[in-house]
Amino acid sequence: MGKLIAHNSNAGVIFCVYSLFFSVFLSAPLSLAKPFFSLSDQCPPSFSLNSDNQCQLRNLYQFYDSLQDRGLGGLKTALPEHRDGFSPQQIDLGRLLFFDPVLSGDKNLSCANCHNPALGFSDGMGRSVGAGGKVSQRSAPTLWNSAFLRVFFWDARANSLEEQAVGPLFSDHEMANTPQQLIANLSQVDAYPQLFSQAFPGSGDPLIIDNIATALSAFQSSLISLNSPYDRYAHGDANALSSAELEGLNVFRSFVARCSQCHTPPLFTNQQVAVIGTPEPTGLARDIGAAQTFNAERLRGGFKVPTLRNIARTAPYMHSGKFTTLRDAAEFYTKGRGHAVPEGETLLLHWHISDPKLTDTELDRLVDFMGALTDERFIPKIPDQVPSGLLNSKVNISLVTELGEN
Ligand code: HEC
Ligand code: HEC
Repeated sequence: MGKLIAHNSNAGVIFCVYSLFFSVFLSAPLSLAKPFFSLSDQCPPSFSLNSDNQCQLRNLYQFYDSLQDRGLGGLKTALPEHRDGFSPQQIDLGRLLFFDPVLSGDKNLSCANCHNPALGFSDGMGRSVGAGGKVSQRSAPTLWNSAFLRVFFWDARANSLEEQAVGPLFSDHEMANTPQQLIANLSQVDAYPQLFSQAFPGSGDPLIIDNIATALSAFQSSLISLNSPYDRYAHGDANALSSAELEGLNVFRSFVARCSQCHTPPLFTNQQVAVIGTPEPTGLARDIGAAQTFNAERLRGGFKVPTLRNIARTAPYMHSGKFTTLRDAAEFYTKGRGHAVPEGETLLLHWHISDPKLTDTELDRLVDFMGALTDERFIPKIPDQVPSGLLNSKVNISLVTELGEN
């Protein structure tokens, strides 16, 4: 109606007022109409699209061909193998699923509740709280750079993102769903069947658990953080680190502190399990960690070495959030080998856990250096709406406060 043009001047003014009136009122119901979802055909930043419609990772580390002995003390080392080759549509479907609470049994909890982009893809808690308020045993790890991981969970019990993805969906402590219920709930959302067909063309019934796992893996492996001040320094920009951060790097790499033996650049984890003897929060029984996964007593209290990428964003620290600050976490290493192991408990501490006797200044510099591992510039776009229409208020509120955007 706004398109009609009246030629007579007076009538024209009246007509315009009318058409404005109508367009405001009549368009109101239209804006309440269900939003239309379609999937991106572009790869996220740091990926390029090949002729098979696959997103392929591109970064400067790919020019370095060795995991050892390259450049100044190993700065120019390659990254480990990574997952890529997902289509833009699969990545984008994964993004919608990741933020959609319809994935959980009670439709209250999305992956982003515990892996919140505004909190370094973690949740700011020592131990995550899942469906029905159940407190899980451990803290939510960051998902940045999970494309490079071979080992998942604190106790190293999963070996691929796909294997991992179904874990939280069907765990009572996390999203408490069942496979049948999940498929039923997704099928009832108008947009999903068609979005799954778009992301998985050519398959008879695309809305299946395997494809949910693939889409979630595709999205997670697109979360690349490799452009921190540390990376720019490693690639040759001598001014990228401040003198305090550089001092910290030197402590970090020294054979006194030995941090880089386990938190090995460029991923800042060697992806191995190590027993380092961290304390449990007061009153909690010892978490035996990897001893259960591998049925090996010598791994009692052993955990996967976590990445330190974006570590300044993911307090509190360690598997159950015992340490509130990075300074406390760093100080743990210099309080004496095994100082936090309770009496009567035998743990086979890793040989790189020593007695480095770091000074207060060295600890401060370590904290400065770990801060230089922050890079969140490729933070994905948070959907304004998810296909189910169930908005995730917790995630949105912290995004507004932390990132200043919605
Ligand atoms: C209730 C909170 C919660 C929810 C919801 C949740 N997670 Fe997690 N996530 C965790 C916790 C806690 C861990 C660590 C568990 C452990 O190690 O035993 C974890 C571990 C992971 C890991 C392993 C990371 C690593 O470095 O080892 C990945 C990947 C992951 N979650 C992805 C997801 C995805 C995808 C979803 C949604 C389908 C999801 N999570 C939902 C809390 C949650
Ligand atoms: C022997 C291997 C090893 C060495 C050496 C080591 N770490 Fe760790 N680091 C680990 C393991 C394993 C964990 C997880 C332990 C846990 O959760 O109980 C960890 C956890 C951390 C965390 C917490 C990460 C998180 O996501 O919560 C920080 C910070 C950290 N280390 C910094 C350092 C610094 C700084 C040094 C050097 C002073 C160092 N590490 C030396 C193995 C090591």
